[in-house]
Amino acid sequence: MSLRRTIIAGNWKMNMDHIEGASLAADIAAGLKGKKPACEIVLFPPFTTLPAVMGVIAGSVIAAGAQDLWYEENGAFTGEISAGMIYNLGCRYVLVGHSERRHVIGEKPDILSKKLRAALSGGLIPVYCVGETLDERESGSASEVVTGQIREVLSGLSGEEMGRTVIAYEPVWAIGTGRTATPDDAGSMHGIIRGMISDMFGAGAAGETPILYGGSVKPGNAAQLLEMEDIDGALVGGASLDASSFLGIVFPA
Ligand code: PGA
Repeated sequence: MSLRRTIIAGNWKMNMDHIEGASLAADIAAGLKGKKPACEIVLFPPFTTLPAVMGVIAGSVIAAGAQDLWYEENGAFTGEISAGMIYNLGCRYVLVGHSERRHVIGEKPDILSKKLRAALSGGLIPVYCVGETLDERESGSASEVVTGQIREVLSGLSGEEMGRTVIAYEPVWAIGTGRTATPDDAGSMHGIIRGMISDMFGAGAAGETPILYGGSVKPGNAAQLLEMEDIDGALVGGASLDASSFLGIVFPA
């Protein structure tokens, strides 16, 4: 049996102000009350919503994280927040390299590499997101792109740092489109990612790294994806904005 933990995470993106977010977190917490989910549950609200969500989830099984960070500790970086600010709020997770950061905002591997290291040195657990575009998949270069994204940002981490890192495979063409990778296609890419981590950090580290799938995960398709050997959880966007659909992924029917 694998020692890897399972994580179901909700990425709220730029949705839910602090009032709406507190109410959604309260509904999720109410749905979990008295139950023992077989996974860790992490919510990623917008920065301004985080404090309200932290208040609501205190004492519950739910953890929270930030959707992004900057890599310096403080200073003249208007609009940015640091690992320390996230950590001091009581959050333990942070997303790094989400496809919208890469493709809408234009973040490049050198920045992502610095962000990932800042998260780790600030005591946070980075969820490092990778994934190919539709063109890359159709041209047959998906695995090359994804293993390149792993290599260029994770190379040089210590074994201890890799041991605290979570990966999320999110094919760009599946995010917010209603089009999900088949369990076989997702499972095979997860296997490729785990193989790459094994080459870089050894089989032990590879065996323990949680690799989440993201891209139009819903209650109706989550169980089949999560059944795959190398899929250790889900990073859920749209379906995490409604308590019953998010809980339907945490507790598949
Ligand atoms: P989606 O988003 O579930 O709405 O496709 C996933 C994500 O971007 O993390």
